[in-house]
Amino acid sequence: MSPFLMGVHQVADVALVVRNFALPLGGLLIAAVAFSSVSSRYRNYKLGSLANAVPGLSFLSIMPFFHSRFDFLNWGFHATGQQAYSFNLLWNKVTVVSGESAREAIFTFRGLNLLEAFKFVSGSLPVVRDADHTVLATVQKRLTALQRNASLSDLIPQFLEDIRQHMDRWSSRDTIDPFDEICELGFHTSVRALAAKGMADDYALIQRLRKLYDDLDESTTPATVLFPLFPSPAMIKKVWAAKQVYDVITKAIDEREGSGIRHNDTLQMLLDAKDDRFTIIGFIMGLIIAGARATGVTASWMLIYLGGNPEWRAKAVTEIETLLRNHSSSASEQDPLSTRLSTIPLEAWESEAPVLDSVIREITRIAQPHIAMRLNEGPDVLIDNKLIPHGSYVLYPFSDVHLDPEIYSDPWTFNPGRPEPTSTPLGYVGFGGARSVCAGQRLAKLELKLIVSMYILGYDHGIVKRSDTSKPVTHGAVPRPNWNEPLTCRPADKSDDMFFAQKRTARPF
Ligand code: HEM
Repeated sequence: MSPFLMGVHQVADVALVVRNFALPLGGLLIAAVAFSSVSSRYRNYKLGSLANAVPGLSFLSIMPFFHSRFDFLNWGFHATGQQAYSFNLLWNKVTVVSGESAREAIFTFRGLNLLEAFKFVSGSLPVVRDADHTVLATVQKRLTALQRNASLSDLIPQFLEDIRQHMDRWSSRDTIDPFDEICELGFHTSVRALAAKGMADDYALIQRLRKLYDDLDESTTPATVLFPLFPSPAMIKKVWAAKQVYDVITKAIDEREGSGIRHNDTLQMLLDAKDDRFTIIGFIMGLIIAGARATGVTASWMLIYLGGNPEWRAKAVTEIETLLRNHSSSASEQDPLSTRLSTIPLEAWESEAPVLDSVIREITRIAQPHIAMRLNEGPDVLIDNKLIPHGSYVLYPFSDVHLDPEIYSDPWTFNPGRPEPTSTPLGYVGFGGARSVCAGQRLAKLELKLIVSMYILGYDHGIVKRSDTSKPVTHGAVPRPNWNEPLTCRPADKSDDMFFAQKRTARPF
Protein backbone atom coordinates (compact mmCIF):
# COMPACT_ATOMS: atom_id res chain seq x y z
CA MET A 1 0.00 0.00 0.00
CA SER A 2 1.37 3.42 -0.90
CA PRO A 3 2.15 5.76 2.04
CA PHE A 4 -0.67 8.02 0.85
CA LEU A 5 -3.22 5.24 0.76
CA MET A 6 -1.88 3.84 3.99
CA GLY A 7 -2.35 7.25 5.57
CA VAL A 8 -5.91 7.59 4.35
CA HIS A 9 -6.59 4.07 5.50
CA GLN A 10 -5.26 4.75 8.98
CA VAL A 11 -7.12 8.05 9.38
CA ALA A 12 -10.33 6.29 8.37
CA ASP A 13 -9.65 3.47 10.78
CA VAL A 14 -8.86 5.82 13.62
CA ALA A 15 -12.04 7.81 12.96
CA LEU A 16 -14.07 4.65 13.01
CA VAL A 17 -12.48 3.37 16.16
CA VAL A 18 -13.22 6.70 17.88
CA ARG A 19 -16.80 6.49 16.70
CA ASN A 20 -16.90 2.91 17.85
CA PHE A 21 -16.12 3.88 21.41
CA ALA A 22 -17.81 7.28 21.56
CA LEU A 23 -21.23 6.30 20.32
CA PRO A 24 -21.81 3.41 22.74
CA LEU A 25 -21.46 5.85 25.62
CA GLY A 26 -24.47 7.78 24.37
CA GLY A 27 -26.14 4.47 23.71
CA LEU A 28 -25.58 3.33 27.26
CA LEU A 29 -27.31 6.43 28.62
CA ILE A 30 -30.38 5.70 26.55
CA ALA A 31 -30.19 2.04 27.42
CA ALA A 32 -30.16 2.90 31.10
CA VAL A 33 -33.55 4.58 30.64
CA ALA A 34 -35.08 2.01 28.33
CA PHE A 35 -33.39 -1.21 29.33
CA SER A 36 -34.50 -3.99 27.06
CA SER A 37 -33.07 -6.43 24.55
CA VAL A 38 -31.64 -3.35 22.89
CA SER A 39 -29.09 -3.16 25.68
CA SER A 40 -27.30 -6.23 24.44
CA ARG A 41 -26.93 -4.53 21.10
CA TYR A 42 -25.19 -1.59 22.73
CA ARG A 43 -23.02 -3.91 24.79
CA ASN A 44 -21.93 -5.61 21.60
CA TYR A 45 -21.44 -2.30 19.94
CA LYS A 46 -19.11 -1.19 22.70
CA LEU A 47 -17.00 -4.30 22.26
CA GLY A 48 -17.10 -4.23 18.50
CA SER A 49 -14.11 -3.24 16.40
CA LEU A 50 -13.26 -3.14 12.77
CA ALA A 51 -12.37 -6.49 11.25
CA ASN A 52 -8.61 -6.98 10.84
CA ALA A 53 -7.28 -5.76 7.52
CA VAL A 54 -5.57 -8.35 5.36
CA PRO A 55 -1.82 -7.88 5.82
CA GLY A 56 0.46 -6.21 3.31
CA LEU A 57 -2.24 -5.46 0.80
CA SER A 58 -1.17 -2.92 -1.79
CA PHE A 59 -3.37 -1.41 -4.45
CA LEU A 60 -2.05 -3.85 -7.03
CA SER A 61 -2.46 -6.90 -4.85
CA ILE A 62 -6.24 -6.41 -4.73
CA MET A 63 -6.32 -7.18 -8.46
CA PRO A 64 -7.13 -10.88 -7.76
CA PHE A 65 -10.38 -9.56 -6.26
CA PHE A 66 -11.36 -8.90 -9.85
CA HIS A 67 -9.97 -11.92 -11.66
CA SER A 68 -9.73 -14.73 -9.05
CA ARG A 69 -12.32 -13.62 -6.54
CA PHE A 70 -12.94 -17.01 -4.94
CA ASP A 71 -9.21 -17.59 -4.27
CA PHE A 72 -8.73 -14.00 -3.15
CA LEU A 73 -11.56 -14.15 -0.59
CA ASN A 74 -10.39 -17.51 0.76
CA TRP A 75 -6.84 -16.25 1.01
CA GLY A 76 -8.08 -13.34 3.18
CA PHE A 77 -9.57 -15.73 5.74
CA HIS A 78 -6.32 -17.73 5.85
CA ALA A 79 -4.05 -14.69 5.96
CA THR A 80 -5.89 -13.11 8.89
CA GLY A 81 -6.92 -16.35 10.58
CA GLN A 82 -10.22 -14.62 11.32
CA GLN A 83 -13.89 -15.23 10.49
CA ALA A 84 -14.07 -11.67 9.18
CA TYR A 85 -11.50 -9.38 7.64
CA SER A 86 -11.41 -6.17 5.73
CA PHE A 87 -9.62 -4.58 2.82
CA ASN A 88 -9.90 -1.36 0.91
CA LEU A 89 -10.94 -0.96 -2.69
CA LEU A 90 -9.38 2.50 -2.99
CA TRP A 91 -11.39 4.59 -0.52
CA ASN A 92 -14.13 1.99 -0.12
CA LYS A 93 -13.94 -0.19 2.96
CA VAL A 94 -14.95 -3.78 2.35
CA THR A 95 -15.51 -6.33 5.12
CA VAL A 96 -15.70 -10.00 4.24
CA VAL A 97 -17.65 -12.08 6.73
CA SER A 98 -18.30 -15.78 7.28
CA GLY A 99 -20.14 -18.09 9.65
CA GLU A 100 -23.72 -18.68 10.68
CA SER A 101 -24.52 -15.44 12.49
CA ALA A 102 -22.86 -13.34 9.79
CA ARG A 103 -24.98 -15.13 7.20
CA GLU A 104 -28.12 -14.39 9.16
CA ALA A 105 -27.11 -10.74 9.48
CA ILE A 106 -26.43 -10.39 5.76
CA PHE A 107 -29.83 -11.78 4.85
CA THR A 108 -31.80 -9.93 7.53
CA PHE A 109 -30.28 -6.56 8.52
CA ARG A 110 -32.37 -3.73 7.14
CA GLY A 111 -29.74 -1.12 6.32
CA LEU A 112 -27.72 -3.52 4.15
CA ASN A 113 -28.57 -2.71 0.54
CA LEU A 114 -28.06 -5.34 -2.16
CA LEU A 115 -28.66 -3.23 -5.25
CA GLU A 116 -26.25 -0.43 -4.34
CA ALA A 117 -23.50 -2.93 -3.59
CA PHE A 118 -24.19 -4.82 -6.80
CA LYS A 119 -24.00 -1.60 -8.79
CA PHE A 120 -20.64 -0.81 -7.24
CA VAL A 121 -19.02 -4.21 -7.60
CA SER A 122 -20.34 -4.72 -11.13
CA GLY A 123 -18.91 -1.39 -12.22
CA SER A 124 -22.13 0.59 -12.03
CA LEU A 125 -24.19 -0.09 -15.11
CA PRO A 126 -24.66 3.21 -16.89
CA VAL A 127 -28.37 3.95 -16.73
CA VAL A 128 -30.28 7.04 -17.64
CA ARG A 129 -30.87 7.92 -14.02
CA ASP A 130 -30.77 6.02 -10.78
CA ALA A 131 -33.89 4.14 -9.83
CA ASP A 132 -35.44 5.44 -6.62
CA HIS A 133 -37.30 3.32 -4.08
CA THR A 134 -40.68 3.89 -5.76
CA VAL A 135 -39.38 2.57 -9.08
CA LEU A 136 -37.84 -0.45 -7.37
CA ALA A 137 -41.08 -1.17 -5.52
CA THR A 138 -42.99 -0.99 -8.83
CA VAL A 139 -40.52 -3.36 -10.48
CA GLN A 140 -40.96 -5.85 -7.61
CA LYS A 141 -44.73 -5.56 -7.85
CA ARG A 142 -44.78 -6.19 -11.61
CA LEU A 143 -42.37 -9.11 -11.26
CA THR A 144 -44.72 -10.62 -8.70
CA ALA A 145 -47.66 -10.12 -11.08
CA LEU A 146 -45.72 -11.76 -13.89
CA GLN A 147 -45.24 -14.85 -11.72
CA ARG A 148 -48.92 -15.32 -10.85
CA ASN A 149 -50.32 -18.72 -11.84
CA ALA A 150 -52.19 -17.46 -14.92
CA SER A 151 -49.24 -15.56 -16.39
CA LEU A 152 -46.75 -18.37 -15.81
CA SER A 153 -49.19 -20.92 -17.23
CA ASP A 154 -49.57 -18.78 -20.36
CA LEU A 155 -45.81 -18.76 -20.75
CA ILE A 156 -45.37 -22.56 -20.72
CA PRO A 157 -46.33 -23.23 -24.38
CA GLN A 158 -44.42 -20.15 -25.52
CA PHE A 159 -41.27 -21.27 -23.69
CA LEU A 160 -41.60 -24.76 -25.12
CA GLU A 161 -41.94 -23.43 -28.66
CA ASP A 162 -38.77 -21.32 -28.21
CA ILE A 163 -36.96 -24.33 -26.75
CA ARG A 164 -38.19 -26.55 -29.59
CA GLN A 165 -36.84 -24.17 -32.21
CA HIS A 166 -33.39 -24.03 -30.59
CA MET A 167 -33.14 -27.78 -30.02
CA ASP A 168 -34.38 -28.54 -33.51
CA ARG A 169 -31.54 -26.43 -34.90
CA TRP A 170 -29.01 -28.66 -33.10
CA SER A 171 -30.44 -31.88 -34.59
CA SER A 172 -27.73 -32.32 -37.17
CA ARG A 173 -24.91 -31.81 -34.67
CA ASP A 174 -23.05 -34.51 -32.70
CA THR A 175 -21.74 -32.06 -30.12
CA ILE A 176 -22.78 -28.72 -28.69
CA ASP A 177 -21.12 -26.30 -26.30
CA PRO A 178 -23.59 -25.83 -23.42
CA PHE A 179 -22.26 -22.40 -22.47
CA ASP A 180 -23.00 -21.31 -25.98
CA GLU A 181 -26.24 -23.06 -26.91
CA ILE A 182 -27.97 -23.66 -23.56
CA CYS A 183 -27.03 -20.18 -22.34
CA GLU A 184 -28.44 -18.66 -25.53
CA LEU A 185 -31.63 -20.60 -24.95
CA GLY A 186 -31.83 -19.40 -21.31
CA PHE A 187 -31.35 -15.88 -22.58
CA HIS A 188 -34.14 -16.33 -25.12
CA THR A 189 -36.68 -17.68 -22.64
CA SER A 190 -35.82 -14.82 -20.26
CA VAL A 191 -36.50 -12.24 -22.98
CA ARG A 192 -39.73 -14.09 -23.76
CA ALA A 193 -40.81 -13.79 -20.12
CA LEU A 194 -39.56 -10.31 -19.32
CA ALA A 195 -39.87 -8.27 -22.51
CA ALA A 196 -42.02 -8.08 -25.63
CA LYS A 197 -43.34 -10.70 -28.05
CA GLY A 198 -41.78 -8.90 -31.03
CA MET A 199 -38.35 -9.04 -29.41
CA ALA A 200 -38.62 -12.72 -28.44
CA ASP A 201 -39.96 -13.74 -31.88
CA ASP A 202 -36.93 -12.26 -33.66
CA TYR A 203 -34.05 -14.76 -33.33
CA ALA A 204 -31.52 -12.43 -34.97
CA LEU A 205 -32.40 -9.79 -32.40
CA ILE A 206 -32.04 -12.33 -29.58
CA GLN A 207 -28.52 -13.13 -30.78
CA ARG A 208 -27.65 -9.45 -31.00
CA LEU A 209 -29.08 -8.68 -27.56
CA ARG A 210 -27.23 -11.57 -26.00
CA LYS A 211 -23.96 -10.27 -27.39
CA LEU A 212 -24.76 -6.82 -25.97
CA TYR A 213 -25.49 -8.28 -22.54
CA ASP A 214 -22.22 -10.24 -22.73
CA ASP A 215 -20.46 -6.95 -23.48
CA LEU A 216 -22.14 -5.39 -20.45
CA ASP A 217 -20.98 -8.22 -18.19
CA GLU A 218 -17.52 -8.64 -19.65
CA SER A 219 -16.67 -4.96 -19.56
CA THR A 220 -16.71 -5.00 -15.77
CA THR A 221 -13.02 -4.40 -15.08
CA PRO A 222 -11.05 -2.96 -12.17
CA ALA A 223 -11.13 0.37 -14.01
CA THR A 224 -14.93 0.46 -14.38
CA VAL A 225 -15.41 -0.50 -10.74
CA LEU A 226 -12.81 1.75 -9.17
CA PHE A 227 -13.11 4.73 -11.51
CA PRO A 228 -16.68 4.59 -12.84
CA LEU A 229 -16.50 8.15 -14.16
CA PHE A 230 -13.26 7.58 -16.08
CA PRO A 231 -13.95 6.88 -19.77
CA SER A 232 -11.81 3.73 -19.96
CA PRO A 233 -12.22 1.57 -23.10
CA ALA A 234 -14.21 -0.92 -21.00
CA MET A 235 -16.55 1.78 -19.72
CA ILE A 236 -17.06 3.13 -23.24
CA LYS A 237 -17.90 -0.39 -24.42
CA LYS A 238 -20.30 -0.75 -21.51
CA VAL A 239 -22.06 2.55 -22.15
CA TRP A 240 -22.31 1.71 -25.85
CA ALA A 241 -23.83 -1.71 -25.14
CA ALA A 242 -26.29 -0.22 -22.62
CA LYS A 243 -27.33 2.44 -25.15
CA GLN A 244 -27.98 -0.24 -27.81
CA VAL A 245 -30.13 -2.29 -25.43
CA TYR A 246 -31.95 0.88 -24.39
CA ASP A 247 -32.69 1.66 -28.06
CA VAL A 248 -34.04 -1.84 -28.73
CA ILE A 249 -36.46 -1.60 -25.81
CA THR A 250 -37.51 1.95 -26.69
CA LYS A 251 -38.24 0.81 -30.24
CA ALA A 252 -40.39 -2.07 -28.94
CA ILE A 253 -42.38 0.37 -26.78
CA ASP A 254 -42.83 2.84 -29.66
CA GLU A 255 -43.97 0.11 -32.04
CA ARG A 256 -46.48 -1.24 -29.55
CA GLU A 257 -47.90 2.16 -28.73
CA GLY A 258 -47.89 3.24 -32.37
CA SER A 259 -49.59 0.12 -33.73
CA GLY A 260 -52.31 0.00 -31.10
CA ILE A 261 -52.14 -3.81 -31.37
CA ARG A 262 -52.27 -5.57 -28.01
CA HIS A 263 -50.26 -8.69 -27.13
CA ASN A 264 -50.39 -10.95 -24.14
CA ASP A 265 -46.87 -10.21 -22.89
CA THR A 266 -44.97 -8.41 -20.16
CA LEU A 267 -44.57 -5.19 -22.13
CA GLN A 268 -48.37 -5.03 -22.42
CA MET A 269 -48.74 -5.62 -18.69
CA LEU A 270 -46.34 -2.74 -17.98
CA LEU A 271 -48.05 -0.41 -20.47
CA ASP A 272 -51.51 -1.28 -19.16
CA ALA A 273 -50.32 -0.47 -15.65
CA LYS A 274 -49.39 2.99 -17.01
CA ASP A 275 -45.81 2.68 -15.82
CA ASP A 276 -43.55 5.42 -17.10
CA ARG A 277 -40.90 4.70 -19.71
CA PHE A 278 -38.06 4.78 -17.26
CA THR A 279 -39.69 2.09 -15.14
CA ILE A 280 -40.54 -0.07 -18.16
CA ILE A 281 -37.05 0.16 -19.60
CA GLY A 282 -35.51 -0.39 -16.15
CA PHE A 283 -37.72 -3.44 -15.59
CA ILE A 284 -36.84 -5.11 -18.88
CA MET A 285 -33.18 -4.15 -18.97
CA GLY A 286 -32.46 -4.80 -15.30
CA LEU A 287 -34.32 -8.06 -14.88
CA ILE A 288 -32.72 -9.55 -17.98
CA ILE A 289 -29.39 -8.82 -16.27
CA ALA A 290 -30.62 -10.35 -13.00
CA GLY A 291 -32.14 -13.45 -14.56
CA ALA A 292 -30.98 -14.40 -18.04
CA ARG A 293 -27.42 -15.43 -17.37
CA ALA A 294 -28.24 -17.16 -14.07
CA THR A 295 -30.94 -19.18 -15.81
CA GLY A 296 -28.77 -20.17 -18.79
CA VAL A 297 -25.75 -21.05 -16.67
CA THR A 298 -27.80 -23.06 -14.16
CA ALA A 299 -29.50 -24.99 -16.98
CA SER A 300 -26.07 -25.68 -18.53
CA TRP A 301 -24.66 -27.08 -15.29
CA MET A 302 -27.79 -29.13 -14.64
CA LEU A 303 -27.32 -30.78 -18.02
CA ILE A 304 -23.56 -31.12 -17.56
CA TYR A 305 -24.00 -33.01 -14.29
CA LEU A 306 -26.92 -35.05 -15.60
CA GLY A 307 -24.84 -35.91 -18.68
CA GLY A 308 -22.01 -37.10 -16.42
CA ASN A 309 -24.32 -38.99 -14.02
CA PRO A 310 -26.46 -41.48 -15.94
CA GLU A 311 -28.29 -42.62 -12.77
CA TRP A 312 -29.61 -39.14 -12.01
CA ARG A 313 -30.32 -38.56 -15.67
CA ALA A 314 -32.44 -41.73 -15.74
CA LYS A 315 -34.29 -40.64 -12.58
CA ALA A 316 -35.08 -37.27 -14.15
CA VAL A 317 -36.29 -38.90 -17.39
CA THR A 318 -38.55 -41.25 -15.42
CA GLU A 319 -39.97 -38.32 -13.48
CA ILE A 320 -40.87 -36.40 -16.64
CA GLU A 321 -42.35 -39.50 -18.27
CA THR A 322 -44.53 -39.94 -15.17
CA LEU A 323 -45.66 -36.33 -15.42
CA LEU A 324 -46.54 -36.92 -19.07
CA ARG A 325 -48.45 -40.10 -18.23
CA ASN A 326 -50.37 -38.42 -15.42
CA HIS A 327 -51.17 -35.12 -17.07
CA SER A 328 -50.84 -35.44 -20.78
CA SER A 329 -53.30 -38.21 -21.54
CA SER A 330 -54.98 -36.18 -24.31
CA ALA A 331 -51.73 -36.11 -26.31
CA SER A 332 -50.41 -39.20 -28.08
CA GLU A 333 -46.78 -40.33 -28.01
CA GLN A 334 -46.55 -39.33 -31.66
CA ASP A 335 -47.35 -35.72 -30.85
CA PRO A 336 -44.40 -33.34 -30.66
CA LEU A 337 -42.68 -33.34 -27.29
CA SER A 338 -43.24 -29.58 -26.94
CA THR A 339 -47.01 -30.10 -27.33
CA ARG A 340 -47.07 -32.97 -24.86
CA LEU A 341 -45.01 -31.14 -22.24
CA SER A 342 -47.21 -28.04 -22.61
CA THR A 343 -50.20 -30.02 -21.36
CA ILE A 344 -48.54 -30.59 -17.98
CA PRO A 345 -50.02 -27.90 -15.72
CA LEU A 346 -47.89 -25.39 -13.83
CA GLU A 347 -48.91 -26.89 -10.47
CA ALA A 348 -47.58 -30.29 -11.52
CA TRP A 349 -44.25 -28.79 -12.68
CA GLU A 350 -44.01 -27.12 -9.30
CA SER A 351 -45.14 -29.85 -6.94
CA GLU A 352 -44.61 -33.17 -8.71
CA ALA A 353 -41.02 -32.89 -9.88
CA PRO A 354 -38.90 -33.58 -6.76
CA VAL A 355 -35.98 -34.96 -8.77
CA LEU A 356 -35.71 -31.83 -10.92
CA ASP A 357 -36.13 -29.72 -7.78
CA SER A 358 -33.28 -31.50 -6.04
CA VAL A 359 -31.06 -31.17 -9.12
CA ILE A 360 -31.75 -27.40 -9.24
CA ARG A 361 -30.94 -27.17 -5.58
CA GLU A 362 -27.70 -29.13 -5.90
CA ILE A 363 -26.55 -27.11 -8.93
CA THR A 364 -27.29 -23.76 -7.29
CA ARG A 365 -25.20 -25.02 -4.38
CA ILE A 366 -22.21 -26.38 -6.27
CA ALA A 367 -22.04 -24.21 -9.41
CA GLN A 368 -23.11 -20.76 -8.26
CA PRO A 369 -20.11 -18.78 -6.98
CA HIS A 370 -22.32 -16.01 -5.70
CA ILE A 371 -21.14 -13.47 -3.18
CA ALA A 372 -23.85 -11.63 -1.27
CA MET A 373 -22.81 -7.98 -1.46
CA ARG A 374 -24.27 -5.20 0.61
CA LEU A 375 -23.72 -1.51 1.09
CA ASN A 376 -24.46 -0.43 4.64
CA GLU A 377 -26.80 2.48 4.04
CA GLY A 378 -28.04 2.53 7.62
CA PRO A 379 -26.22 3.29 10.84
CA ASP A 380 -23.06 1.42 11.73
CA VAL A 381 -23.86 -2.20 12.56
CA LEU A 382 -22.09 -5.07 14.18
CA ILE A 383 -21.79 -8.43 12.55
CA ASP A 384 -20.25 -10.98 14.90
CA ASN A 385 -18.93 -8.08 16.93
CA LYS A 386 -17.17 -6.60 13.94
CA LEU A 387 -18.09 -3.08 13.03
CA ILE A 388 -19.56 -2.51 9.59
CA PRO A 389 -19.45 1.26 9.28
CA HIS A 390 -22.14 3.22 7.53
CA GLY A 391 -21.17 3.67 3.87
CA SER A 392 -18.94 0.59 3.75
CA TYR A 393 -19.46 -2.69 1.91
CA VAL A 394 -19.85 -6.15 3.35
CA LEU A 395 -19.45 -9.41 1.45
CA TYR A 396 -20.56 -12.91 2.29
CA PRO A 397 -19.29 -15.62 -0.12
CA PHE A 398 -21.81 -18.43 -0.63
CA SER A 399 -18.89 -20.89 -0.56
CA ASP A 400 -18.86 -20.37 3.23
CA VAL A 401 -22.07 -22.34 3.55
CA HIS A 402 -22.46 -24.25 0.26
CA LEU A 403 -18.97 -25.77 0.29
CA ASP A 404 -18.69 -26.31 4.04
CA PRO A 405 -17.92 -30.04 4.58
CA GLU A 406 -19.58 -29.88 8.02
CA ILE A 407 -22.87 -28.96 6.36
CA TYR A 408 -22.47 -30.79 3.02
CA SER A 409 -20.25 -33.84 3.30
CA ASP A 410 -17.93 -34.19 0.32
CA PRO A 411 -19.14 -30.80 -0.88
CA TRP A 412 -17.72 -30.92 -4.42
CA THR A 413 -19.61 -34.11 -5.22
CA PHE A 414 -22.86 -33.73 -7.16
CA ASN A 415 -25.43 -35.57 -5.11
CA PRO A 416 -29.02 -34.35 -5.44
CA GLY A 417 -30.01 -37.06 -2.96
CA ARG A 418 -28.05 -35.52 -0.08
CA PRO A 419 -30.13 -34.53 2.97
CA GLU A 420 -31.19 -30.91 3.32
CA PRO A 421 -29.29 -29.16 6.14
CA THR A 422 -32.40 -28.55 8.21
CA SER A 423 -30.53 -27.95 11.46
CA THR A 424 -28.34 -25.17 10.01
CA PRO A 425 -30.05 -21.78 9.80
CA LEU A 426 -29.99 -20.59 6.17
CA GLY A 427 -28.04 -23.75 5.33
CA TYR A 428 -28.99 -23.35 1.68
CA VAL A 429 -29.18 -19.91 0.08
CA GLY A 430 -29.11 -20.80 -3.63
CA PHE A 431 -32.03 -18.43 -4.19
CA GLY A 432 -31.24 -16.20 -1.22
CA GLY A 433 -32.94 -16.42 2.15
CA ALA A 434 -34.80 -14.59 4.94
CA ARG A 435 -35.41 -10.99 3.80
CA SER A 436 -33.34 -11.25 0.63
CA VAL A 437 -34.81 -13.90 -1.61
CA CYS A 438 -34.65 -14.14 -5.38
CA ALA A 439 -37.59 -12.19 -6.76
CA GLY A 440 -37.63 -14.27 -9.95
CA GLN A 441 -37.21 -17.79 -8.59
CA ARG A 442 -40.62 -19.12 -9.57
CA LEU A 443 -40.06 -18.07 -13.15
CA ALA A 444 -36.45 -19.28 -13.15
CA LYS A 445 -37.33 -22.75 -11.84
CA LEU A 446 -40.05 -23.18 -14.44
CA GLU A 447 -37.69 -22.22 -17.27
CA LEU A 448 -35.01 -24.59 -15.94
CA LYS A 449 -37.42 -27.52 -15.74
CA LEU A 450 -38.76 -26.98 -19.25
CA ILE A 451 -35.30 -26.61 -20.82
CA VAL A 452 -33.90 -29.67 -19.06
CA SER A 453 -37.00 -31.79 -19.74
CA MET A 454 -37.04 -31.04 -23.46
CA TYR A 455 -33.34 -31.79 -23.78
CA ILE A 456 -33.14 -35.05 -21.86
CA LEU A 457 -36.24 -36.42 -23.54
CA GLY A 458 -35.34 -35.10 -26.99
CA TYR A 459 -31.68 -36.10 -26.87
CA ASP A 460 -29.54 -38.82 -25.37
CA HIS A 461 -26.46 -37.02 -24.18
CA GLY A 462 -23.18 -37.47 -22.37
CA ILE A 463 -20.21 -35.25 -21.61
CA VAL A 464 -16.99 -35.06 -23.58
CA LYS A 465 -14.05 -32.72 -23.23
CA ARG A 466 -13.28 -30.14 -25.87
CA SER A 467 -9.77 -31.61 -26.08
CA ASP A 468 -11.08 -35.08 -26.94
CA THR A 469 -14.68 -35.29 -28.09
CA SER A 470 -14.38 -39.04 -28.77
CA LYS A 471 -14.05 -40.05 -25.10
CA PRO A 472 -17.05 -39.73 -22.77
CA VAL A 473 -16.39 -38.17 -19.36
CA THR A 474 -17.32 -40.91 -16.95
CA HIS A 475 -19.30 -40.71 -13.76
CA GLY A 476 -17.65 -38.52 -11.18
CA ALA A 477 -15.05 -37.11 -13.59
CA VAL A 478 -16.98 -33.99 -14.51
CA PRO A 479 -14.54 -31.08 -14.07
CA ARG A 480 -15.24 -28.95 -11.01
CA PRO A 481 -17.11 -25.70 -11.49
CA ASN A 482 -14.51 -22.95 -11.46
CA TRP A 483 -15.62 -20.51 -8.76
CA ASN A 484 -13.07 -17.96 -9.92
CA GLU A 485 -15.06 -17.55 -13.11
CA PRO A 486 -18.13 -15.78 -11.77
CA LEU A 487 -20.15 -15.60 -14.98
CA THR A 488 -20.25 -19.26 -16.02
CA CYS A 489 -18.04 -21.28 -13.63
CA ARG A 490 -16.34 -22.64 -16.75
CA PRO A 491 -13.11 -24.54 -16.00
CA ALA A 492 -9.97 -22.39 -16.16
CA ASP A 493 -8.19 -24.88 -18.39
CA LYS A 494 -9.82 -24.60 -21.80
CA SER A 495 -9.04 -28.23 -22.58
CA ASP A 496 -11.32 -29.14 -19.65
CA ASP A 497 -14.24 -27.36 -21.36
CA MET A 498 -17.20 -29.71 -21.64
CA PHE A 499 -19.27 -30.37 -24.70
CA PHE A 500 -22.41 -32.45 -24.93
CA ALA A 501 -22.12 -35.50 -27.18
CA GLN A 502 -25.71 -35.89 -28.29
CA LYS A 503 -28.04 -38.00 -30.39
CA ARG A 504 -31.71 -37.33 -31.10
CA THR A 505 -34.15 -39.76 -29.53
CA ALA A 506 -37.14 -41.14 -31.44
CA ARG A 507 -39.47 -38.63 -29.76
CA PRO A 508 -40.49 -35.94 -32.23
CA PHE A 509 -39.90 -32.37 -31.06
C1 HEM B 1 -31.29 -19.94 -11.76
C2 HEM B 1 -31.62 -18.69 -11.77
C3 HEM B 1 -31.45 -17.75 -10.60
C4 HEM B 1 -30.70 -17.88 -9.47
C5 HEM B 1 -29.82 -19.05 -9.05
C6 HEM B 1 -30.91 -16.68 -8.69
C7 HEM B 1 -30.33 -16.45 -7.45
C8 HEM B 1 -30.55 -15.32 -6.70
C9 HEM B 1 -29.99 -15.08 -5.40
C10 HEM B 1 -29.04 -16.03 -4.67
C11 HEM B 1 -30.42 -13.89 -4.97
C12 HEM B 1 -30.09 -13.23 -3.62
C13 HEM B 1 -28.83 -12.48 -3.75
C14 HEM B 1 -28.32 -11.92 -2.45
O1 HEM B 1 -29.00 -11.98 -1.44
O2 HEM B 1 -27.19 -11.44 -2.48
C15 HEM B 1 -31.26 -13.34 -6.00
C16 HEM B 1 -31.87 -12.11 -5.93
C17 HEM B 1 -32.65 -11.61 -6.96
N1 HEM B 1 -33.02 -12.23 -8.11
FE1 HEM B 1 -32.49 -14.08 -8.69
N2 HEM B 1 -31.75 -15.86 -9.37
C18 HEM B 1 -32.12 -16.47 -10.53
C19 HEM B 1 -32.99 -15.99 -11.48
C20 HEM B 1 -33.64 -14.79 -11.42
C21 HEM B 1 -34.57 -14.30 -12.40
C22 HEM B 1 -35.04 -15.07 -13.65
C23 HEM B 1 -34.95 -13.06 -12.01
C24 HEM B 1 -35.90 -12.09 -12.63
C25 HEM B 1 -36.80 -12.36 -13.50
C26 HEM B 1 -34.26 -12.77 -10.77
C27 HEM B 1 -34.40 -11.61 -10.04
C28 HEM B 1 -33.80 -11.38 -8.83
C29 HEM B 1 -33.95 -10.12 -8.11
C30 HEM B 1 -34.75 -8.90 -8.56
C31 HEM B 1 -33.22 -10.26 -6.92
C32 HEM B 1 -33.03 -9.22 -5.83
C33 HEM B 1 -34.09 -9.39 -4.78
C34 HEM B 1 -33.93 -8.31 -3.72
O3 HEM B 1 -33.90 -7.14 -4.06
O4 HEM B 1 -33.79 -8.67 -2.55
N3 HEM B 1 -33.47 -13.84 -10.44
N4 HEM B 1 -31.33 -14.24 -7.03
